[in-house]
Amino acid sequence: MPQIVLHKSQTKIDVPAGANLMQSLLSAGVPVASSCDGDGVCAKCRLEIIAGEKNLSPRNETEIFLAETNELRADERISCQTQVLGDIEVDAGYW
Ligand code: FES
Repeated sequence: MPQIVLHKSQTKIDVPAGANLMQSLLSAGVPVASSCDGDGVCAKCRLEIIAGEKNLSPRNETEIFLAETNELRADERISCQTQVLGDIEVDAGYW
């Protein structure tokens, strides 16, 4: 079962393979910024991927568009558009 590690607190969250990254964090009580409720519009749910980028689903069309229009860095992902396929470590500036 994939594990999400929160970088600063080193909190570990087990999730089923293929789970949505944003929903997994919210379900675990971890806040994720959003003003579109995961509809792939606001880009506020972006997270920094510290480790395990290869264990995430590839960027879908929505995320590619958001990445271009919001100048996302290569190590940032739109969490509402991302599935967790293996172990990752993530960070948000507000955690
Ligand atoms: S929550 Fe708005 S784009 Fe992800």
